[in-house]
Amino acid sequence: MADIILGIESSCDDTSAAVLRDGVLLSNVIASQQVHKDFGGVVPELASRAHELNIVPVVSEALRKAGVKPEDLTAVAFTRGPGLLGSLLVGTSFAKALSLSLDIPMVMVNHLQGHILANFVRQPDKPVDEPEFPYLCLLVSGGNSQIVRVNSPLEYEILGQTIDDAVGEAFDKCSKMLGLGYPGGPVIDRLAKLGNPDRFHFAKPNIPGLDYSFSGIKTSLLYFVRDEMAKDPDFLEKNKEDLCASFQKTLIDILMGKLIRAAKETKIRQVTIGGGVSANSGLRERIVAEGKKRGWKTFLPEFKFTTDNAAMIAVAGWFRYRAGERTPLDVAPVSRMADY
Ligand code: KG4
Repeated sequence: MADIILGIESSCDDTSAAVLRDGVLLSNVIASQQVHKDFGGVVPELASRAHELNIVPVVSEALRKAGVKPEDLTAVAFTRGPGLLGSLLVGTSFAKALSLSLDIPMVMVNHLQGHILANFVRQPDKPVDEPEFPYLCLLVSGGNSQIVRVNSPLEYEILGQTIDDAVGEAFDKCSKMLGLGYPGGPVIDRLAKLGNPDRFHFAKPNIPGLDYSFSGIKTSLLYFVRDEMAKDPDFLEKNKEDLCASFQKTLIDILMGKLIRAAKETKIRQVTIGGGVSANSGLRERIVAEGKKRGWKTFLPEFKFTTDNAAMIAVAGWFRYRAGERTPLDVAPVSRMADY
């Protein structure tokens, strides 16, 4: 009998449900919340309320699109953490209710593992192209910047991570400084394409090993812009594109420097990226180019699987379900998950 897994994702501001049949994606529905736009960031209380409104219609739509009835489901996979606690509670409670009412098992998933396994979302009529284990994943999002060695779908090792801000935060804070709005990544990505990446230079951190730091570079941008604005009040307006291109290039240089080192040290040649920042076109181009130069096989998740989505949660849950994992009904979500 086929394994039909319902995935549920509600860790931040996207309510998502997906249906997977024997690893193949049948549907992936995402309701993105618009209520946060005026606040310059996600407001946790508003996010939980919006999840509460969205969860039933989103799950119903995912089942309808997949042509699957609730009683056909084999198991329900859900994001336990990390994320906003109120948001996670909605998905977790919904998974429990479904598990109880249908008498099917629940499988909890670490949201970050979902991002790391995004390349394993199989789609009908698309060729399968998946990394072999072990592989390296550059996990880059609004909350994390890590290099992870993935030994199997159940076994992860963090080789390096940020000691302060995540790279997504650097994009978002830079955007705020330049008056470009939230979230910053997509708008900086767009403007960077129009600018000269070698025009301005920002100091890169000198952090030992494979760890990252992104807090200094944003201060460097802040002081630079402040000093230039004192000389010419129109500096920002005149140089927006070059500033974005140069700032983005610096962030990519920092990310790639450590990734290249990790590949050298581990001798692993299968390399992937995951998380919201993996949508960045400059980073995607660079990782492919570096991969060609260095003999890596690189895997880029499709854009729709870079941001939060339940397809990746369903895949991660399916691996765990097949390994025999079951989550008890007294599970509680957690905002932080220290490791894997
Ligand atoms: O993984 P994600 O959707 O949420 C979590 O952090 O869990 O990542 C969101 C982050 C934000 O910081 C956003 O600015 C960044 O991903 N982002 C991008 C791009 N699209 C989203 N950063 C750079 N370039 C992009 N195209």
